[in-house]
Amino acid sequence: MTAKILSGKDIAKDIRKELKVEIEELKEKHGIVPGLAVALVGEDPASQVYVGAKVKTCARLGVNSIEKRLPEDTSEADLLALIDEWNKDDQVHGILVQLPLPKHIDEQKILVSIRPDKDVDGFHPTNVGKMLIGKPDFLPCTPHGCQQILMRSGIETEGKEVVVVGRSNIVGKPVAAILVQKAKGANATVTICHTRTKDIKEHTLRAEILIAAAGVPKFITADMVKEGAVVIDVGVHRIGKTESGKDKLCGDVDFEAVKEKASAITPVPGGVGPMTITMLMMNTVRSAKLRIK
Ligand code: GUN
Repeated sequence: MTAKILSGKDIAKDIRKELKVEIEELKEKHGIVPGLAVALVGEDPASQVYVGAKVKTCARLGVNSIEKRLPEDTSEADLLALIDEWNKDDQVHGILVQLPLPKHIDEQKILVSIRPDKDVDGFHPTNVGKMLIGKPDFLPCTPHGCQQILMRSGIETEGKEVVVVGRSNIVGKPVAAILVQKAKGANATVTICHTRTKDIKEHTLRAEILIAAAGVPKFITADMVKEGAVVIDVGVHRIGKTESGKDKLCGDVDFEAVKEKASAITPVPGGVGPMTITMLMMNTVRSAKLRIK
């Protein structure tokens, strides 16, 4: 079997088209232009690419953006002061602090300082809790993007064995929490594997839907995948340069081998990546809509 390629790129394009209409309506009917403020501390090259892409997508959709690039040695107090300013600014509907932060800044302290109703990343404990009890305001972008790929590709999750490899707060834990809910596009039986799991392969071989979020290049090999499984690859790793000088990327899945066994698979690039930014735009529009009097 050669897998169907699940193009997150195309699905993201469809969603952005829908969002553009909503954004124009917000502007015309309510005089509201959604605004996103993004802070990047330090020089991490991957984070710079991600933040650049977020700001560019805002411009393409008609969302206002504020981008603040701060030096590596920025103090925690200065970052908190910036967030406080954005918390109070009515033009700012969404606030995003790019992770990871430098070691001298306490990540949790920063995340809880963002007003929950502007937390478009969905990382504030209030929003994490709301997601867990099935009453979300803002779902975290990458996990929500994974769910949207499944839903918009007509892949049923109800009653399915879903195995997530990885337990990060950004992807592994929340994607499991989303897919286990008693809700449309969820209702799955979910297992989370991690670095202390005794036999990961024993679990992944049971997966009807396998979500790879281990953070290790090509960690999921063909022998770990059940024939006909749906494979969602959340990993992004730079593995050198293409001939044209672009970054060469791979995911957490050994794509070439696994695509011969899976029934459907997301590629890297062009899979989950474009969905993340699109879900961020969706949350920013949602936040702006909540301001309608
Ligand atoms: N770093 C990696 N992924 C993300 C994300 O979704 N949001 C933020 N803020 N930082 C990240």
